[in-house]
Amino acid sequence: MTLSVPISPKPLLSTLLGQRQERPPLWLMRQAGRYLPEYRALRAEKGGFLQLVHDSAAAAEVTVQPLRRFGFDGAILFSDILVIPHALGQDLWFEAGEGPRLAPPLVDAAVDALTRAPERLDPVYETVRQVAAMLPPGVTFLGFAGSPWTVATYMVAGQGSKEQAATRRFAHADPAAFGALIAAIEAATFTYLLGQIDAGVEAVQLFDSWAGSLSPQQFEAWVIAPTARLAAKLHAARPGVPVIGFPKGAGGKLAAYARETGVDAIGLDETVDPVWANGVLPVGLPVQGNLDPLLLIAGGEALDAGVDRVLAAFPDRPHVFNLGHGIQQDTPIAHVERLVGRVRG
Ligand code: CP3
Repeated sequence: MTLSVPISPKPLLSTLLGQRQERPPLWLMRQAGRYLPEYRALRAEKGGFLQLVHDSAAAAEVTVQPLRRFGFDGAILFSDILVIPHALGQDLWFEAGEGPRLAPPLVDAAVDALTRAPERLDPVYETVRQVAAMLPPGVTFLGFAGSPWTVATYMVAGQGSKEQAATRRFAHADPAAFGALIAAIEAATFTYLLGQIDAGVEAVQLFDSWAGSLSPQQFEAWVIAPTARLAAKLHAARPGVPVIGFPKGAGGKLAAYARETGVDAIGLDETVDPVWANGVLPVGLPVQGNLDPLLLIAGGEALDAGVDRVLAAFPDRPHVFNLGHGIQQDTPIAHVERLVGRVRG
C-alpha cells in the first residue's frame, strides 16, 4: 500500500495559514505588468494605467494574464496602492516615464480639507468580483493595499520622493497632524480591505515599500502601530483571512515587526539573508520571498543557484516563494518560466 501525502486544495492559502507545503507555493509581486506583451497591448488599447484600473473587465483580464502563462498559485488584484489617496480626495495621475502625481500635496494642505470620494473604489470591488468568478480552483486570490506610512509618503510629497524626507520631516515636526493623516489612511484602508474581502479576495497584503527609511522610534509609531491596529481590526471583522505584512527595508527591525504587528505572514525583501530571518523570526510564522528581482533578469545558472538558496533557507517553516520586490519590466519571460520550473522541481 502506498501512503499518499495530502495535497492542499489551495497551497498558497494553506501556507499563509501556517501549513508548510512540500514544495512552496509561488507568486510574484507585480506579476501583472509591463514585462508581459499581453499587458502592454491591453494597456495601449485602454489608453493608460489608470484607465485599466478603472475598467473592471480589463483589470480582471490583466489579473489573470500571468496565471495563464505561468500557472502561479496566487492571483493578485490588479489595482494600485494610490487608489486610497484618490478615494481620500486627492487628484491622481501618472506622468509618462516619471511616475505618480497626487494633488494637492499634503505638505500644502490638510487631509481634512480634501473632499472624500469613496465611490472611486467601486470599480476595484467589481474587478474583485469578476476575478473571483474566473479563477481556477487551486488558485488563491490576494487583495492588497499600501500600508499607511507608505501611502502617506506619496500623499505628503505629491509624488515618489527620495528617502521620503518631506514626510519624515513632517512627522517629526508635527506628530499630531501626521497622526491624523495616518488615522485617515488607516480608516480608509480598513474599509477598502473589508470591501475586497467581501467581494472575494482570500488574503490581503500590506505593501510597506518605504518602511526602511524610518528611525526606530518612527518605525514603531508609523509602521508597527498602524499595521498592528489594521491587522487586529481585520482579524476581528473577518476571522481566518490572513494578512501578509511586507515591510521592505526593515532589516534588523523585522523581528520586532513580526512580534508586534500580529500579521499572519511576513514578506522579506532581497536584502534580507533568509537564513538569518529564519533564525530570528517567531517559530512557525509563514514567510514570503525573497529572490532578488535582478537575479531573475540575469537568469541562467546564477538564477538557479539563487532559487536553491532561498528554497533551502526555510527547512521547517511555511514558505511562499516570491521575489524580494516587484518584477521589473525588462525581465525575460523565459527566465520566469525557468524560475517556475525550478521552484516546482
Ligand atoms: O502586483 C501586481 O501585479 C498587482 C498590481 C500592483 C500595481 N502596483 C500595479 C502597477 C501592485 C500590488 C502595486 C503596488 C504599488 N504601487 C506599490 C507598492 C509595491 C512596490 O512596488 O513597492 C507602490 C509604491 C505603488 C505606486 C506606484 N504605482 C508607482 C510608484 C508606480 C509608477 C512606477 C512605474 O513602475 O511606472 C505605479 C504604477 C503601476 N502600478 C504600474 C503597475 C503595473 C505600472 C503602470 C504602467 O505603466 O502600466
